[in-house]
Order: sequence, then structure tokens, then C-alpha cells
Amino acid sequence: MSSIQLIFATNNANKVIEIQSVIPEGIQVISLAEAGINIDIPEPHNSLEANATEKSTVIHQLTNKNCFSEDTGLEVTALHGEPGVKSARYAGDHKNFNANIDKLLLNLQGEKNRTAQFRTVISLIWDDKEYQFEGICKGQITHETRGTNGFGYDAVFIPDGSDKTFGEMSLDEKNEYSHRKKAVAKLISCLQALTAN
Ligand code: IMP
Repeated sequence: MSSIQLIFATNNANKVIEIQSVIPEGIQVISLAEAGINIDIPEPHNSLEANATEKSTVIHQLTNKNCFSEDTGLEVTALHGEPGVKSARYAGDHKNFNANIDKLLLNLQGEKNRTAQFRTVISLIWDDKEYQFEGICKGQITHETRGTNGFGYDAVFIPDGSDKTFGEMSLDEKNEYSHRKKAVAKLISCLQALTAN
């Protein structure tokens, strides 16, 4: 695959680090900051898919360049899929990770069913056409926080197949299970097909 550049439509530095850690040589992921773009991209919709499209479309309209975005939600079975698309603002518009975790653990107090999944939707705009990719990681919500690595709900989520929370894992360990890594693998395959020849 020849070298290609893609703008990543996010202001979340943690997501940039995670995605750059799994992107192969030949694909250059450029953050909004690196592209000199300073805007707060809206997430006004009720689905991860629609928000992902919104974010990639805004950046594509602004730059006219190939780009991608991602929207991720934590979907908790006992809370009927919440916080889901509202994961970032679960405890309010200030998007505070600790407050979001406190609210989640409070809402699950006394609940035996701790199953949940992270779901990532990536929206790629390549040559003016949109493609979407999904990555899911199933697991369990803990009763208290464990570990300080990562971000968001990482300290209260144990992926199936592990006994550690994402917050107790290195980035490489998280990538063995991660929803984001799975969605990015599909993005990479698509880019390889689009740029073959
Ligand atoms: P958004 O995709 O930027 O709307 O982010 C949704 C929210 O979900 C983030 O603010 C985090 O709180 C949470 N989140 C997204 N990805 C992860 C992850 O990989 N681990 C833990 N929390 C995450």
C-alpha cells in the first residue's frame, strides 16, 4: 500500500494514541491539532453511527481531505444499553470521567448482571464516499475502580477472557481485546483494498 494520509476527526488525545498504536506504516493518521483544526465537533444524534458520520462529514467539508472519525459507547445490559451514545456526558456536559464512573456504579448498585460491551463505530470518508466499521468488546462492570491506565470507563471494565480491567492493562494488552482495535482492523483492510494497484 502506498503511503496515505488520513485526518482523524477527534479532539480526544487518548483515542489518537490508541489508534496510532495499531496503525501500520504506510498510513499516516493526523490529529485535528496536527492539522491545525480547532473546533468542538458536535455529537447531536441518538446513535453512534449517526454521530460518527456527523464528525467525519464536518471535517471532510472543512478540509476536503480523506478523513475518519469514531464514536464509542459503553452499553450496559442491566441499564438497557445505557450510557451508550451518552457515555461521554453520562453525568453531565462537563464530560468528567470520574463522575461518569460514579454514576454508573451507583446505577448498578445491588445489580447482579454486570455484563456490558464497548461498541466503536468508525466512519471513513474516502474519495467522497462513506464507509462504516464496527468493533465490539464484551465484558463485565466491576464493583469498584481498579487501575489507573487508559481513560473513560477503563477502570471499571473487565473484557471477557481477562481478569484485569482495562485500567490495569498496558496499551498493548488493551489492544488484545479492544473494541477500537477491532474496528481499526476493519478500517485498515478497507484502506488496503481501496488503495490496491
Ligand atoms: P466519544 O466516542 O468521544 O463520544 O466518547 C464516549 C465516551 O466513552 C468517552 O468520553 C469515554 O468516557 C468513553 N470511552 C470511549 N472509548 C473508551 C475506551 O476505550 N475505554 C473507556 N472508556 C471509553
